[in-house]
Amino acid sequence: MRVGVLTGGGDCPGLNAVIRGVVRKAEHDFGDEVVGFLDGYLGILEDRTMPLDVAACRGILPRGGTILGTSRHTPYMVDDGLDTVKATMARHDIEVLIVIGGEGTLSCANRLQGDGVPVVGVPKTIDNDVGGTEMTFGFDTAVQIATDAIDRLHTTAESHDRVMVVEVMGRHVGHIATWAGIAGGATVTLVPEEPFDIAAVCDSLKRRHERGRFASIVVVAEGAIPAEGTISIPDPTVDEYGHQRLGGIVNVVASEIEARTGFETRVTVLGHVQRGGTPTSFDRVLSTWYGVAAMEAAHDRDFGTMVALRNGEVVRAPLAECIAELKYTHPDLLAAMRTFFG
Ligand code: F6P
Repeated sequence: MRVGVLTGGGDCPGLNAVIRGVVRKAEHDFGDEVVGFLDGYLGILEDRTMPLDVAACRGILPRGGTILGTSRHTPYMVDDGLDTVKATMARHDIEVLIVIGGEGTLSCANRLQGDGVPVVGVPKTIDNDVGGTEMTFGFDTAVQIATDAIDRLHTTAESHDRVMVVEVMGRHVGHIATWAGIAGGATVTLVPEEPFDIAAVCDSLKRRHERGRFASIVVVAEGAIPAEGTISIPDPTVDEYGHQRLGGIVNVVASEIEARTGFETRVTVLGHVQRGGTPTSFDRVLSTWYGVAAMEAAHDRDFGTMVALRNGEVVRAPLAECIAELKYTHPDLLAAMRTFFG
């Protein structure tokens, strides 16, 4: 059979490892052929492809980004998009599309499946917010990068006796903030799941300093929300896809902390550094496993499914169920994290 593959949405470490897994399984074990579509769904709409065989995937396992390119474009943004997708797939004799993406890209894949385009989904995003799976690939790498950064901020914070406020990604959920905050020994971590009260944050910092401790790290997820009636943050701008451009809440949080506590405060925004570079070994393994499993699902014609990590195993789950709800940080983990506040 012939299979199409694309990567959509924001990139993340491990995308190339998934592609390699798909191709290796297809060529080596099934004798199937894989066609890569360039720049996400845009490649299908514009019929821009690259042949993918084992030779084309040589050396890409540890490489960040995606050799296919990516975009947030979807076929439903243009007139006749669905027909164009079907026509392109027919032209290339492609039976199923393996879609590697986060909530937006996978929701579109689910819609395509409903509209008669067979798909198999692979959950990607550093934010780790795709439902139905315990882990998306890219998350582990992002947490490691954020933790390394926090470790470094500790030493300079201690030298200067400062508060360091560090912003990490996580638009709807605080997985990265929580994991990096715990791993990095943050004094306070702010996540979208629980609106924060800046007065309580400052009290926490003051208590810590009163106990004779110095230097604090405050981790803020980009999507953190102030509790109603406390402080306000500027409205985010929106890109051409209706995607809010977050980032910057850290500046408000830091200036409030400095004004309310008198502690010298500095800001670090990790931004896209969390999404770039080589995947961790965990992400390389998870991505490879997802890629192989997605190709198996495609070959079995088990369409409309998503590969998912559950109880330490990669399984197939109905895509519609997985995209129905975002996966939030476990409340027990948030509670465990709060034990170390202040
Ligand atoms: O892919 C998710 C994410 O990493 C979010 O946490 C972040 O808000 C967003 O991507 C930023 O993406 P971009 O700058 O590519 O639009």
